[in-house]
Amino acid sequence: MLYDSVHNLKLYIETVGCQMNLLDSELVVAALRKAGYELTADVADADTILFNTCSVRQHAEDKIYSALGRLKFSKRARPQQVIGVIGCMAQKDQDLIFKRAPHVDLVVGTGQLAQIPELINESRKNRRPQLAVSLDRRDATRQEISDSFQSYDPLRDPEMRPSPFQAFVRIMIGCDKFCTYCVVPMTRGPEQSRPPRDIVHEVRKLVAEGVKEVTLLGQTVNSYKHTQSGRLFRLSDLIAEFHDTPGLERIKFVTNYPRDMTNDLLQAVRDLPKVARYLHVPVQSGCNDVLQRMKRGYTVEHYREMLGRIAEFVPDCAVSSDFIVGFCGETEASFEKSVALVREARFKNSFIFKYSPRHGTKAHDLFLDDVPEETKRRRNNELLDLQNEISAEDNARFIGCRVEVLVEGPSKSALKSPLVAEEPATGATRAQLVGRSRCDRIVVFEGNPRLIGTLADVRIDDCTPTTLIGSIVTREFLPIIE
Ligand code: SAH
Ligand code: SF4
Ligand code: F3S
Repeated sequence: MLYDSVHNLKLYIETVGCQMNLLDSELVVAALRKAGYELTADVADADTILFNTCSVRQHAEDKIYSALGRLKFSKRARPQQVIGVIGCMAQKDQDLIFKRAPHVDLVVGTGQLAQIPELINESRKNRRPQLAVSLDRRDATRQEISDSFQSYDPLRDPEMRPSPFQAFVRIMIGCDKFCTYCVVPMTRGPEQSRPPRDIVHEVRKLVAEGVKEVTLLGQTVNSYKHTQSGRLFRLSDLIAEFHDTPGLERIKFVTNYPRDMTNDLLQAVRDLPKVARYLHVPVQSGCNDVLQRMKRGYTVEHYREMLGRIAEFVPDCAVSSDFIVGFCGETEASFEKSVALVREARFKNSFIFKYSPRHGTKAHDLFLDDVPEETKRRRNNELLDLQNEISAEDNARFIGCRVEVLVEGPSKSALKSPLVAEEPATGATRAQLVGRSRCDRIVVFEGNPRLIGTLADVRIDDCTPTTLIGSIVTREFLPIIE
């Protein structure tokens, strides 16, 4: 008798990396649930163990290899167990994963995620390693490579979303910018935009299922371009296509590429009320020499001009950024230019990373990783301290103001020790809730859990560098008479 038919299969999945990976995991889990799996949080209890991986920095890969190391003898207790490595590291390391971890059964790249249910069955039947990856970017024509990276966007399963009223929607896959430090063009393949009609259909379906906020995903989301029935759709045109869907409250998109921040998009952010007043546009460095070695395709002057246009079109728009510190040849003077840019731009927040050399990238082949680890760490801390100072100052400006919050759920600290209390006057339940403002600031406040999934007005009373703390001012629920 087939193993599958006598056993209730259990899936354990661990995900690292960016939102693209979170979405991929959601879709893989949905497909496996349809095939009869249920999720388990206990790795020892699982028939199938999947790691959805990231290669953007060495640290992300080390974490996965050590997790795999811990599973070396796991199959002794469950001989039918299947261990799979999927996603970016699978595409990048391919066979090397079987060499480093011979107990791995499956290696499945970002372009083959649709095959996972079949590959798991195959592996269980044949007990032979299964490798499914796309073509290397140097090994074939652009069309052949593009075809080998399939966008994985099956029908959505509403039960599998992390939250019932928020959803990621992939609008493009891949990247063609080839920044010299970055593996993403290799792990995700050539840039390919999905057809507008598919995206609009997906958004409408999600909204019909109760989704209030969609976040459009792309590595360089504002480079989106697709010609459909002879008409060119840019990101601004795409958003306009579904903006008016009744029930949809908020639209976000990440991550933006500075050079593609065109005025039509800024006009859309200004004129379309559901679009968040928030743009994540990583600059990476404040020094032109470094930007040039990174092959980012713009100068600090271009970036500053773009910030000026954002402020001109959408004065209340929050901007956030990414920085890499300690890139090859970054001197103290070049680092100081990043410090100066953080001071000048007053980003809402910045994600700051220490440069991590990646095999297969231009920077790895051409430049020396010449900034010592200790210096990278110091620069990272220094930039982060300054950013936190600025974030705290800017958050303080909200004290006494009202913001409109899309309430996401109980706050993380409330999840650890649920702070649910009864309101003396009305007997209504109150909990510590969290959501985001239209400019993407995290807001924590006390309120009725029934507010989850709605827009609430919150008055800000206090703040930290990362969070606004407030209390409900309107749309307060009256006691419910049953
Ligand atoms: N597509 C997005 C981000 C991709 S990776 C964009 O282009 O903006 C997310 C962030 O990781 C990058 O913005 C960059 O700051 C950082 N990063 C990428 N490669 C890195 C490397 N080799 N070392 C350190 N940080 C890196
Ligand atoms: Fe990587 Fe640059 Fe593409 Fe972003 S734009 S994914 S940093 S190559
Ligand atoms: Fe990592 Fe792949 Fe995303 S390398 S950052 S998971 S695209």
